[in-house]
Amino acid sequence: MNPIKNILLWASENETLRRHVSKWGFVKRALRQFMPGETFDDALNAAHQLKDQGLLTTFSELGEHLVDISEADAVVDHYLSVYDRSAAEGLVSEVSLKLTHLGLDLEVERCAKHLDRLAAKAEEHNTWLWIDMESSEYVDTTLDLYHQVMANHSNVGICLQAYLHRTPADVESLLPLKPGIRLVKGAYKEPASVVVRGKKAVDHAYFTVAAKLLTAARDGEVRLGLGTHDVHLIEKLDVVATTADVPRASYEIQMLYGIRTADQLRLAGDGHRVRTVIGYGEAWYPWYLRRLAEKPGNLWFVLRNVFGQPPTAD
Ligand code: FDA
Repeated sequence: MNPIKNILLWASENETLRRHVSKWGFVKRALRQFMPGETFDDALNAAHQLKDQGLLTTFSELGEHLVDISEADAVVDHYLSVYDRSAAEGLVSEVSLKLTHLGLDLEVERCAKHLDRLAAKAEEHNTWLWIDMESSEYVDTTLDLYHQVMANHSNVGICLQAYLHRTPADVESLLPLKPGIRLVKGAYKEPASVVVRGKKAVDHAYFTVAAKLLTAARDGEVRLGLGTHDVHLIEKLDVVATTADVPRASYEIQMLYGIRTADQLRLAGDGHRVRTVIGYGEAWYPWYLRRLAEKPGNLWFVLRNVFGQPPTAD
């Protein structure tokens, strides 16, 4: 792995660094590259602008690994209001969250109840709830909770990471549920025993699983989100989709706010369903460090902000 990427992923898990770096003004300024602001109102404004440009949106309040279970209640209340406010403002936005932000590390059963409540609220508004995938030690429990929530609801999706050796088998075991699957490459620092290493190999793993999921999407067996900014890979998958008669309306391309914005608009203009995931909130540190690790060149944005220069969009 690229040593800078390695250091950034290590730093993303370091509590002392988090406490200091989260307060640095120039880092906060650089963060605006990926976040419209820290409040939900900032995210709502961004969603309206994206809607006007033909993009769908998903809200994600940044946060993970709660240390006090009572904080999960506030997270749930927040997301309940996110669904209500989005609907009141005419947005059919979705929500994406991490289970450790609902207290998975602390009380699994309570986390499952929170998940069920949020899925019911999403159903009330005829929209969806998505579960992010965290580091590999959480995959089994996350899949267990996904099976549980899908026993009562059909509007919940889960993120799967193509870099994990296990993912093709996980896809097989999920398909009978008629799941929602967002396929991403994977963002965590993982041992070689559990992940495929190197961009070429990860891209190949992604392509193989995505091609299978595209035909499943065509046959109505999955709601598919291709979660990637890799436009070359998207082009190759577009060829697969065209050859296999997969209608563009049967899958989505999902990207993060502020990344490949021009491509998001171009793809939407070409008739793809494109969804932007908008992150917001105060607990941005580990999430932001993972974004820097994905493209260490982003560190230049951070350095430019030492002198207060505004970042330019990708
Ligand atoms: P790749 O890393 O090959 O990048 C392709 C191109 O995209 C780059 O050359 C660059 O131009 C651009 N790019 C990518 N990342 C960038 C960045 N940070 N800044 C600037 N440009 C960038 N992971 C996970 O483990 N669990 C999860 O739940 C999720 N959820 C999720 C949702 C959505 C909607 C997306 C798009 C991604 C995630 N991820 C994730 C992150 C994912 O695993 C992966 O780390 C990133 O998407 C980067 O990989 P790409 O597929 O974009 O390709």
